[in-house]
Amino acid sequence: MPVDTEELVTRLRSARALVVLTGAGVSAASGIPTFRGDDGLWRQYRAEDLATPEAFARDPRLVWEWYDWRRTTIAACRPNAAHEVLARWSERPGFTLVTQNVDGLHERAGTRNVIRFHGSIWELRCAADCGAPPWEDRTAPLTNLPPACPLCGGIARPGVVWFGENIDPDILERSSAAAARADVFLSVGTSSLVFPAAALLHHAKRNGAFTVEINPGATDISRMVDLPIAAPAEDALGMLDARIKMG
Ligand code: OAD
Repeated sequence: MPVDTEELVTRLRSARALVVLTGAGVSAASGIPTFRGDDGLWRQYRAEDLATPEAFARDPRLVWEWYDWRRTTIAACRPNAAHEVLARWSERPGFTLVTQNVDGLHERAGTRNVIRFHGSIWELRCAADCGAPPWEDRTAPLTNLPPACPLCGGIARPGVVWFGENIDPDILERSSAAAARADVFLSVGTSSLVFPAAALLHHAKRNGAFTVEINPGATDISRMVDLPIAAPAEDALGMLDARIKMG
């Protein structure tokens, strides 16, 4: 990791508001395929072909087969060193984690104050919005596809945000407010291609945050952050955690 992290370590130690935005790359070392990596395809489909209201309206069973495959994959995975470091950092006052991941691994690692920007793959809701409150279902694989709404008997959908859908206004507001307050903003394991999540870093930078990217690959934000760290999250966060502790 040939980068000078001295300034970052100093800033992390003194930060009053630290915001971390995570994407699929933080779960890669747990064995969960990223969306846009080489192993990101399911059958011949890309996420953009399946994670839309149109795809669900056309073929709910196909979309559910993909989610059921992902749920079953995730159920067999455990949080990795990246999740564990972030869980420890979440004990600090002023820490906020915004995750685009729907896998629940941050929560399983014990992270406090997680904002689930794109929802949860373990939550289901009525596709027709009949008034049933969203419910948790951790069965993997599911017994019936598509699963049914317990209130109206119609089709249930995953409790995630699809392309073309809006982020819950309260979640957007809390995330934007945290980004605006951040002294340090870390973008970890995301391709920074999906908005509005990717806008949070720009918002933080405009408001004076020291911005950092942790990603072994280059992205659109690599050149504009104050410090790009071209390394896997599980290594880079472990290294930063050790250096912070060294005093
Ligand atoms: P992507 O699959 O687009 O990007 C994953 C990023 O992780 C890539 O830039 C990789 O270089 C990087 N990466 C791979 N291994 C890594 C590691 N060990 N450590 C750190 N980084 C690593 O996933 P996201 O950016 O999360 O949305 O995708 C954003 C959204 O698009 C997802 O939330 C999902 C997807 O379609 C919805 O479903 C609405």
